[in-house]
Order: sequence, then structure tokens, then C-alpha cells
Amino acid sequence: MRKVGIVGIGHVGVTVAHIIVSQGLADELVLIDHNTAKLASEELDLRDSASLLDKHIFIHAGNYNDLADAEVVISALGHIDLITEGGDRFEELRANAPEARQVGADLQHVGFHGVLLVISNPVDVITGIYQKATGLPHNQVIGTGTYLDTARLKRSLADILHLDPRSINGYVLGEHGDSQFAAWSTVNVLGENIDTLAQHYDLNLTQIEQAARIGGFTVFSGKGYTNFAIAHAAVSLLELILSDAHRESIVSHFNIELGSYISSPAVIGREGIVAEFNLPLHDDEKEKLLASAKAIQQKTQHLI
Ligand code: 2OP
Repeated sequence: MRKVGIVGIGHVGVTVAHIIVSQGLADELVLIDHNTAKLASEELDLRDSASLLDKHIFIHAGNYNDLADAEVVISALGHIDLITEGGDRFEELRANAPEARQVGADLQHVGFHGVLLVISNPVDVITGIYQKATGLPHNQVIGTGTYLDTARLKRSLADILHLDPRSINGYVLGEHGDSQFAAWSTVNVLGENIDTLAQHYDLNLTQIEQAARIGGFTVFSGKGYTNFAIAHAAVSLLELILSDAHRESIVSHFNIELGSYISSPAVIGREGIVAEFNLPLHDDEKEKLLASAKAIQQKTQHLI
């Protein structure tokens, strides 16, 4: 029985729900939000959409008791209204941190023992807050991290190379935020490394990396939020968990050396992180990862 809960039915949460329903990725979907009127409407709208599909799914507004036996709970709570033009995802921290602590405590209280997948920003810090508040093992509490930034880097590069983004391999590592970086040593396209590609196509790697870094704000500037890509990022990870894929992916997870949640690749399965591995990074990339962890810690100390 694939039971999934979504906490926070705003732009992102409801898009995650719609993808799960339309693709038939769960047998039961529990929706939780403070705004009971919106929650009731989204539940009804989703149930009406499900009635037009050929897969059965039990969709309902619920409470934390309903999440006790969920395989996965997705945190999509947020306060996007706090983000300013050209701002930082940390602008949501003061509002999201206390809510995450409370949701985490509620999940622990009901005995939730599945995987907690965090979208809520600043996702690296909020994921760490959830891990502490739930008391779940680190491997069971993961964040979308730079999964989407990696997708944005691939899309930017693919546009230039006139390829499908899925033909691009590689990662954006670090903070889901300003201190993230493209680990160019991991980027490979049709068997070619980035140095060969950069010369052959006269690539401006700094520009491509920056396009990924500000990709969220580029979308935000026109519509006041992002939802589609981040929702698909979360659902892609959800599928790896529910299918116990044991597949490599990029997520925000606890980095024991750096002492914080930060994004690097790991093997994802039913228990969340099922295996870790060290990327053979160049020295400058290792320094950037350390610097990114420090940037997350410094911004957090200043705000909570
Ligand atoms: C993004 O970059 C929501 O932080 C997320 O779209």
C-alpha cells in the first residue's frame, strides 16, 4: 500500500499532489494544511480529477495520525510571500523553521517511521530541523536540495548543445542557494568531458552555472513562485523511494564530515539514503563544497 502524505497545499504541494494523482503513484494520498477551506477545495478538485483517470487513489484531507503509517511524507510548507526580488531562500527561514519543528514533533508523536522528503526552503536547513524534530535516522530525512539546480544546469547546457537534457550527466553540489556550484569534473556529454566540450563549443561555463544558480529566481520574477519543476523533482525522488530503486540521485542529506545537510549524490531507496559514495571531486570542488556548508551554517546562525 503506497501511502503518501503532503504537508502544505500551496502552489508546490498541490502540484506535487496533482502529479501523484495523474500518474497514479500512490494508493492513498493524505493532504494536510492550516487553511482548511483551501484544503477542502483542493481535496475535492483532486478527487474530481481522479474520477476521470483510470487508476484508483484514495485522496483525503487528514491529520498527523493519518501519517503514522505513511511510506513517505513530503513537506511542501512555505512562505513564498517572504521572498524578495533577487532575495535569498533564507528569507523564508524565520517562518518555516518553527512550522517545521512543530510538524516534525507531530510526526514523531504519532510514530511516523517512513521517509520524510523535504521541499520547504531553505531546504538544507529545514531538512536538518526536521531530522532533529522527528528523531528519525538521518538517512530517512532528505531534501530535494540541488536536484532541481542540477536539472537547470543540464537544461541550460542542453539548450546550447541542442540535446535533450537527459543526455547530460553531472551535478550541481552544495546549498540549494547562492553558494551552490557546478561540479564540472562530474559533467559528461556523449562521452566527452567538460573541458573538451567547452573548447569545441566555446562554452561560457560561468554563465551556464549562474543560469542554474538563479534559475529559481528567474521563474519567480515573472510568476511570484515556482512549482512545476520543483514538484517534478520531488516526485522523481518519491518514485525512487516507493520503488526501492537503489538508484543514484542528488539530494540534500546529512554530510557527516561537514556536519550539515547539503547536496551530493547518494543511492536512494525505500529507506531514503540506502548507500553513500564519495564523488572523486577535484580539490577546488572539495573546497567549494566546504565553503557552501560554511555559508549555510553562517546564514543559519544569523537567523535562528
Ligand atoms: C526552486 O528553486 C522552489 O527553491 C525551489 O524552484
